[in-house]
Formats: sequence, C-alpha cells, structure tokens
Amino acid sequence: MAVPGFTLDVFIFLLHISSVANYPNGKVTGSCHGMVPEHGHSPQSNPVHRIAVSQNTFRPGDQIAVTLSGPPFKGFLLEARNAEDLSGLPIGPFTLNDSQVSQLLTCEDIQGSAVSHTSSSKKTEIKVYWNAPSGAPNHVQFLVTVVEKYKIYWVKIPGPIISQPNALPFTTPEASIVPLSTLHPVSHLTKSFNASDCGNKKFCIRSPLNCDPEESACVFLSFTRDDQSVMVEMSGPSKGYLSFAFSHDRWMGDDDAYLCIREDQTVHIQPAHLTGRSHPVMDSRGTLEDMAWRLADGIMQCSFRRNITLPGVKNRFGLNTSYYIFLADGAANDGRVYKHSQQPLITYEKHNVTDYPKNIGGSHSLLLLKVHGAFMFVAWMTTVSIGVLIARFLKPVWSKTFFLGKAVWFQVHRMLMLTTSALTCVAFVLPFIYRGGWSW
Ligand SMILES: *[C@@H]1O[C@H](CO)[C@@H](O)[C@H](O)[C@H]1NC(C)=O
Ligand SMILES: *[C@@H]1O[C@H](CO)[C@@H](O)[C@H](O)[C@H]1NC(C)=O
Ligand SMILES: *[C@@H]1O[C@H](CO)[C@@H](O)[C@H](O)[C@H]1NC(C)=O
Ligand SMILES: *[C@@H]1O[C@H](CO)[C@@H](O)[C@H](O)[C@H]1NC(C)=O
Ligand SMILES: *[C@@H]1O[C@H](CO)[C@@H](O)[C@H](O)[C@H]1NC(C)=O
Repeated sequence: MAVPGFTLDVFIFLLHISSVANYPNGKVTGSCHGMVPEHGHSPQSNPVHRIAVSQNTFRPGDQIAVTLSGPPFKGFLLEARNAEDLSGLPIGPFTLNDSQVSQLLTCEDIQGSAVSHTSSSKKTEIKVYWNAPSGAPNHVQFLVTVVEKYKIYWVKIPGPIISQPNALPFTTPEASIVPLSTLHPVSHLTKSFNASDCGNKKFCIRSPLNCDPEESACVFLSFTRDDQSVMVEMSGPSKGYLSFAFSHDRWMGDDDAYLCIREDQTVHIQPAHLTGRSHPVMDSRGTLEDMAWRLADGIMQCSFRRNITLPGVKNRFGLNTSYYIFLADGAANDGRVYKHSQQPLITYEKHNVTDYPKNIGGSHSLLLLKVHGAFMFVAWMTTVSIGVLIARFLKPVWSKTFFLGKAVWFQVHRMLMLTTSALTCVAFVLPFIYRGGWSW
C-alpha cells in the first residue's frame, strides 16, 4: 500500500528538485553572474587577497599573466569584465598554468570565461593567463571571489584594470560604484503601469485575471507592438526577481527568458535562456533597448523594447509566431537568482503576442497534475480505507445478506478495491501524458 504513495512523493520531489549548496569541486557555474557562493552567509568586507597582472595595457591577442595571492584559501572564482559594465558578461578566454589547482569554466555560454578551484585544498597563489579577444572592450577589470572557509568569503574583490593603448584613460570612479553600461542607458519609470489599453493596444497577461497594476498587487505582463519592435512591461510584487519566458512547450527547457533582478536598490534587466530545469544562462543585453525600471511600495516594474525578429542572434526567439508564456518570480541575492518559490504561471495555450491584442490569464498548476494528485488521494486515502473497514467491521453484520450470489460486505469491498486499482492506473499514466511520453 505504501508503494503508490511513494511514487507520488518521488514525483513531487522531482518537481521540486533544487540546487546543491556547496561545491568543493569548483563547478560553480551557477554563481557565474553574481559571483556569490551559495553559502548563505554574509560576505566579508575588507579583502585581504589581491590580483596582480603582468602588464597594464593590452592589445587583442595578448596573453596577460594574472596572479591571485593572499592568506591560504580554499576556493575562488576569477573573471574579467568590461570595467564600464561590471555586471555584464565575463570576457575570456583564460588559459591555465596549473590544471591541478585551477580549472576553466564555461560561464554564460562563453568557454573558459572564468577560472575556479579544483578541490578545497588550501592554496596561497594561483596563476592563470588571460587572452585578450579581438572584440575586447577598452578597459577590462579582473574580479575575484575568494572562499577562505565555508562561512568566510569575499565577493567580487576588484582587481587591476587593464586598458587598450589608444583608449581614453579610465577615470570615472563612479563607474565602479554604479556598474551600468553607458551603451545601454537604463532609466527610471515614474508611475505604475496601467491596464487601460489591455486588449486594445496591449497584449496583456495578468494574475489574478483582469487585475489592475495601478491598484492592487497584480502580476502584470504586457506586449505592445510597434512596427518592427515590441515594448514589454512587467510588474508585480517581488523582493527578488520577476521573469517571463517564451516556450515551445509547457515545460522548462530551451526557452527564451527575460529577468528583472533586484540588486540592492536597482533593477538589472537581463535576457537569458533556459536549458532544461537548471539555472538560467545569462545572455548579452545588447538586444534590448529603452530599458527602464522602478521599485516602489514592494512592487517591481521593468520595461524594455525588443525587435520582433533578431536574425543571427542566438537564443532570442522571433516574436512573429506563437509560444506558451511562463511567468515566475523568486528570491535573488546580490544578483544571483534562486529557483521560483511556486510553480510558474503558464498560459493555457500558445499565443502570438505580436498579433491582435488579447487579455489572458494562466494557471500555476497543470490540470493533469491536479487530477493525478486527486486520484491518488481518493484511491489511497478513502476507497482503500473504507474497503478495509468494511472487511474488518461489517463482515459479521452483512455476512447473512447476499447480493448477486455473494455476501454484501464482500461485493462492496471488492468494488472499492477495483476502484482503487483503476484510479491508481489512471493517475500513474497522467504524468506520461503530461510530458508527451517517457521522460527522465
Ligand atoms: C606554473 O606551473 C608550473 C608547473 O606547471 C609551476 O612550477 C609553477 O610554480 C606555476 N606557477 C605558479 C605561479 O603557480
Ligand atoms: C497608461 O499608460 C500609458 C503609457 O503606457 C499612458 O500614456 C497613459 O496616459 C496611461 N493611462 C492612464 C489612465 O494612466
Ligand atoms: C532593431 O531593428 C532596427 C531596424 O529595424 C535596427 O536598426 C536595430 O539595430 C535593431 N536592433 C537590434 C538590437 O538588433
Ligand atoms: C518570422 O520571421 C523570420 C525572420 O524574419 C522568418 O524567417 C519566419 O518565416 C517568420 N515566421 C512567421 C511565422 O512569419
Ligand atoms: C503572428 O502575428 C504576426 C503579426 O500579426 C503575423 O505576421 C504572423 O504571421 C503571426 N504568426 C502566426 C504563426 O500566426
């Protein structure tokens, strides 16, 4: 009797599977963007480790020796980034001097764009080489996160800035405090989004259905088509991040996603793609224009514009066709996002957001999953128990009454047991229908 209950538990457990917290093997690609270890303690403030470089100017093609040194440490994550956009993509590739103690990581889809430890053994010095790529920005800064032990670590220790010889000197100290690129200006919104044009000029997805983002805690996503581009507005109550994704199917994987991530008192707007059920991989922000955000009264708002088709851009879907749309929110810390706290909202069918504007909602739990749970519950909590109780207590009472040639208690007991088997079979098959076949 415990077996189908167990199947249900395993099924639910697989839906809620989450990331592992500690990485002595240095495979920390989940921390690539925020460079924050998933240790859940506060980072230290005064760094004691430093990065040294073999030269302060570079040309594309140069190889620069980068040395991290300091008191004994167990783990590290080293990246190079555009000094004018420190929350942008890492720049690589690095090459290793000693593959015993260091390894290359593929961060944000760029091979060798970060270096980490291979074990938690103590080290005092790590040497690697950074290879200046042809499209390198004018000023590149090295950043490192160092873990001395589990609870003691420093995040994004700023390292030296190296520059191309003909570049203007890197003089703006504000640029390292407010790491926003001048290429993608991000502005402030001044008021809430409104739903007055929903179904008229805007394609709107709202939860609860038809809520008003100006008045209540409403999860709001709208698309406004404008010739060759689409203006996207998203808002909702969130202290961490809000996100939506376009998907070919009703489960996560190979999706085109957009996240608005809270970092202290600002919001970072970030395109990403999802591979399977793992952490989103952040992509370049170069495809988004007119980015703007606002944080007020616990509501996060962000908006941006995107071309309907982006020929030649990897991971961004063309918006001239129909997709399922997912909406999710969750916690974020220092730019790192954590798995959504509840099942994402998913539209009931595929929609073409650039076609005529509609007003739609979605559902957090899929009907099939609900039916699966309900059938398992009915089968094992009620019919079995009643069947057993009848056999135990009504057998002496009903053994003299007959129905279709058998004692009534036995007929009722048998009927309940057959119902249980039937419900269990149906409930067992539903997950396979949901995934469209066998799935790991
Ligand atoms: C570089 O690697 C060589 C061996 O591969 C080692 O002898 C040398 O100490 C390493 N240099 C640093 C700074 O780690
Ligand atoms: C709704 O928002 C639009 C901009 O998206 C603005 O032009 C319009 O005036 C707003 N309407 C109301 C009623 O606030
Ligand atoms: C969007 O399209 C316009 C012309 O339609 C083009 O000038 C612009 O570069 C495109 N933007 C991106 C990010 O591809
Ligand atoms: C969408 O746009 C792309 C690129 O312009 C084109 O190749 C594709 O056929 C279009 N699809 C539809 C359904 O219009
Ligand atoms: C989606 O809508 C756009 C704009 O109306 C249209 O050009 C395109 O053909 C539509 N795509 C599909 C698959 O219906």
